[in-house]
This record gives sequence, C-alpha cells and structure tokens, in this order.
Amino acid sequence: MQATDHANQNATLHNDPQSADFLPLLGTDYIELYVGNAKQAAHYYKTAFGFQSLAYAGPETGVKDRVSYVLIQNKMRLMLTSAIHSDSPITEHHKKHGDGVKVLALWVDDAYDAFEQTTKRGAKPYLQPSTVNDANGEVRTSGIHLYGDVAHLFVERKNYKGVFMPGFVEWKSDYNPVPAGLLYVDHCVANVGWDQMNPWVKFYEDVMGFRNILSFDDNDISTEYSALMSKVMSNGNGYVKFPINEPAEGKKKSQVEEYLEFYEGEGVQHIAIATKDIVATVRDLMSRGVEFLKVPSSYYEDLLDRVGTIEEDLEPLKELGILVDRDDEGYLLQLFTKPVQDRPTMFFEIIQRKGAKSFGKGNFKALFEAIEREQAMRGNL
Ligand code: FE2
Repeated sequence: MQATDHANQNATLHNDPQSADFLPLLGTDYIELYVGNAKQAAHYYKTAFGFQSLAYAGPETGVKDRVSYVLIQNKMRLMLTSAIHSDSPITEHHKKHGDGVKVLALWVDDAYDAFEQTTKRGAKPYLQPSTVNDANGEVRTSGIHLYGDVAHLFVERKNYKGVFMPGFVEWKSDYNPVPAGLLYVDHCVANVGWDQMNPWVKFYEDVMGFRNILSFDDNDISTEYSALMSKVMSNGNGYVKFPINEPAEGKKKSQVEEYLEFYEGEGVQHIAIATKDIVATVRDLMSRGVEFLKVPSSYYEDLLDRVGTIEEDLEPLKELGILVDRDDEGYLLQLFTKPVQDRPTMFFEIIQRKGAKSFGKGNFKALFEAIEREQAMRGNL
C-alpha cells in the first residue's frame, strides 16, 4: 500500500481484493449448539439426520461444568453442549434462548493472527488466543463476539492428529445409524433486529474482510402479510457465507420478528447443508422423521416455465416438496425443515447446487407463504 491518502484507503478497505486476504478462512470448522439435554439432542441428530459419533467431553474427561457431544457427517461437525449445573452461563443461555447456535467456528491457518486482525479492526474479544495440547499435538483457538450471544471461534488444527481437539476423547457408540448424504455447511443465516442488517454487513466487511455478494429488499422478499430484507456476506474464497436478515414492515408479523421474539434476541436462523442428491437425502430424512415445510402442489404447475430444463424428474420433486430456482450460473434445489426445537426458531435447509451460487430468491414467496401458514397455526402471524 502507498503511504498517500490514508483516509481514502480506509474508506475503500472492503473493496480492495488484497485486503480481503487479511482473514483467510479454510471453511467452517464446527457449529456448536447450546441445548437443554445434549445427550438426547445427540441421539436426535444421529437418528434423524444421520450424524455419526465423533468426540465427547464431560466430567469423565476432566470438564466439570458441561458435557459436549461432537457429531460428524462428511465435512460437517456439530457440537451439542449442555450445562450440568444451574449456576452456569450455558444454563442462562438456554433459559433465555432455548436450543440454539452459540458458536460458528471457522477453520483457519493461524488462530492468533485471526484474533489480532479482527480485534484490531473492532471485533470484541470472546476468547483470547490460547493453545491446548495432548498426545496428538496442539490446537490453537481464539474467538470474537457476533450479533446476539453468538460467537465466531477461530480454530487452527494443522499441528493436530487427534479425533477432534484436546480435552475431547473419541466417542465410540454401539448405535451408528447410516449417514443421510449431508456433506458440508453451505451457508448459515443470521436474524438480526430492526435496522441492524447494515451494521452487521459493515462488521463483516470491515472486521472480517467479507464482501456483500447479494442483496434482497422487501420487494423481493414479501408476501401479502410479511416481509424481510437480507444481504449475503461471503469471505474472499467463497468457502464461508453468512446471509443476514432483518424484519421489514408488512401487514402482519414478519417471520424474522417471530424468531426474535421467541429466541429473545438475535441469532442463527438456519444452517444450510449441502447434498449431492437431494431427492435421496430428503426421502431418507423424511423416513427418519425430519419434518419439512410444504409448498402447495400448484408450485409445480409452472415450475419448468420458471426455471427451464432440469436434469431431475419432476415427480419426485413434487412428491417430496423440493424447491428449484435458477440464476445466471445454473440452478439449485432446496428444502427447509420445520424448526427443530420447541420454540419457532432455528431450522435447517438442505441444498443441492447445480451451478447456481445464489440462495433461491425465486422460492422466497412460495416458501414464506408456507412459513406463514405455520406461523398462523402457532397464533403468531
Ligand atoms: Fe438458506
């Protein structure tokens, strides 16, 4: 960088492709949920979603205040944590939010540098850089605060050969349901409060070096009753994408407002997981008891007129309620689960990309009408 015109350089920091490299990310490392009963939640995610047992930490391994079960399916790791005493921040978190995402952990090459780069740009420290060791090597971690009570952890594991990280033991189980074809985290969506989307867009630009790759306003995402706005943030190599939603004015309560009310704050709305065969994956998940949102069968009447030719047969898509959308680069197939806990808060998306890099804008209206039918049944519309 040249020494001239610092003010201008700072103003355009987020548009400079070189400065986007200050936080190189290798992907999502794991997602941690704080839940009411980690043992039972782990059983649910194994049974219903096909996750496999990977690692465990708790009193037996020297951790006195909590238990954590780590599950894996292909490249996706899910950690489920519960406190074992009432006097715990985990208990407080669960009391306030119910089950929900606490940590979005990002895989980095240098966790100390990730902390330095983000905190010097304004991130609030969540976890000071630290190194933990065991016989399998070392893992270095650090963390910063996000919206609501969510945090990003930076995990550096290049000098570690163990099953997960020091402090955890391998979790061997006699109960091993087959995987469901879930591959990796495609994107994770945040719900933030009124007028909070742009400040968090700026956070991801300035503090994390992300770019805003797509925007939707309330004209794109509205039904007769409710609306939301969304901007999609992506890191430099596109491995990590975080769309950020905020509610918008409508005749009735937006689905984002319902989330904020029941989560009692901002948080992760949905986790999208990639599959390479959505028909097989969704059929499998349904047979395991995963509940999905249903669009009316009229959605399929003019589908091919909207999206053009697709490789899949229409019948199984219609039977399973799978949605299709196209952008300039290809198409995608997607489907959304109902909330996976008692509160109408977090849910999952199953997505298969066939060239498309977008998020299913063409499905928003049909989808949100389906969500509103559910909201109305809960008396929250
Ligand atoms: Fe999504």
